[in-house]
Amino acid sequence: MSTNDTKLGGRDLSGRRVLVPGGTGGVGEGAVRSYLAAGADVVVPTRTEQRAEEFRRVLGDAATDRLHLVVHDYTSFAGAEGLAAEMRRSLGGIDDVVAPIGGFWSGRRLTEIGESDWRTAFVELATAHAAVMRACVPHLSPSGAYCLIVGESATTPVPTAGLVSMEQSALLMMQRVLTAELGGDRRVFALVLGPVRTRFAADAGPGWITADEVGAVAVAASAGSLPGREIQLRDRAAAGRAIALLRDGTSRVEPVVTMSTMRPKPGRENELLDLLRELAPRIRAEPGCLRYSAHLTRDAGHPAVLILMEFESREAFEAHSARIAGQVSRIAALLETPPAPPALFGSDVATVSGV
Ligand SMILES: NC(=O)c1ccc[n+]([C@@H]2O[C@H](COP(=O)([O-])OP(=O)(O)OC[C@H]3O[C@@H](n4cnc5c(N)ncnc54)[C@H](OP(=O)(O)O)[C@@H]3O)[C@@H](O)[C@H]2O)c1
Repeated sequence: MSTNDTKLGGRDLSGRRVLVPGGTGGVGEGAVRSYLAAGADVVVPTRTEQRAEEFRRVLGDAATDRLHLVVHDYTSFAGAEGLAAEMRRSLGGIDDVVAPIGGFWSGRRLTEIGESDWRTAFVELATAHAAVMRACVPHLSPSGAYCLIVGESATTPVPTAGLVSMEQSALLMMQRVLTAELGGDRRVFALVLGPVRTRFAADAGPGWITADEVGAVAVAASAGSLPGREIQLRDRAAAGRAIALLRDGTSRVEPVVTMSTMRPKPGRENELLDLLRELAPRIRAEPGCLRYSAHLTRDAGHPAVLILMEFESREAFEAHSARIAGQVSRIAALLETPPAPPALFGSDVATVSGV
């Protein structure tokens, strides 16, 4: 973990008891390193002795005596209950949980999946998450945080990886329902990740968030007092913003206004307008959407559509971008040129004094 990453989320979590099921994985490694670096006691259950040994080697010097690597199957209700009980017995409680359980699955369209695909990619992973949540959330200390880790496929359909999208989307709803049911009693976060640079995917794009940065965001969530919420971590810049938000404890929310234009292919104008009409109610219902309007030019010779949107924060706009990504190919098919990212504008300058 770099010094910079430590600074990003770095808080003193000495004495905190943190459970990281799935901690042996690529994303989990970042969480384990970050909590150890912040001084916490970190319990990493793994289902096999071989994985335990391998992971200890991966961590090297970072595997201090505050790392509690235990061979324990936490993926069933009984297994997770047993683990939570043992952690309370041996360490006296559970303060925080980070759950990066399970990886990616792809290769078949939904109409081609078999029952074993369904069990592997949906039932087993969803069961493991539900089991850990059920065993731990009621016992979390009041200052602690539960960070559920999911991918953007939770909100964006990925053809031939639909089971992952369905499972991740169910987990995202689990976080939302928990937040509603707990009514502020416990803090449950969903960290929604774009592609992550891990030890298994070192050859990544420059903007990819790193596993250490995901860990730093989770540490910042634990160390702060911000209520649980969905946090989009699409790239490295988003990680920095999330940590600033979690660290300050308040959101320095500034609305963003966006503007984009689209020029339909000749003869496809009505199809484009129909598609925009279809999408409008969904976009207006998105969290943080303050305005969505589409305007057709009055210049009949060169039809063009102006899209104006306003979101209560940049994070809300980014969440919208992630949600709309699955529709981009439908829109692009009707345009003369591929849709460009919209121009972003800040606060209304007319309301700033002196202007
Ligand atoms: N890697 C990415 O680019 C990326 C991007 C977006 C989102 N995510 C999300 O991050 C989470 C972790 O992903 P990852 O890339 O770190 O995965 P990973 O490297 O495969 O690690 C996942 C860990 O989960 C545990 N696990 C428990 N039950 C499992 C099951 N039935 N199948 C597979 N693993 C199981 C395993 O730990 P033990 O065997 O030791 O118990 C494993 O080490 C997932 O929710 C994923 O959707 C990852």
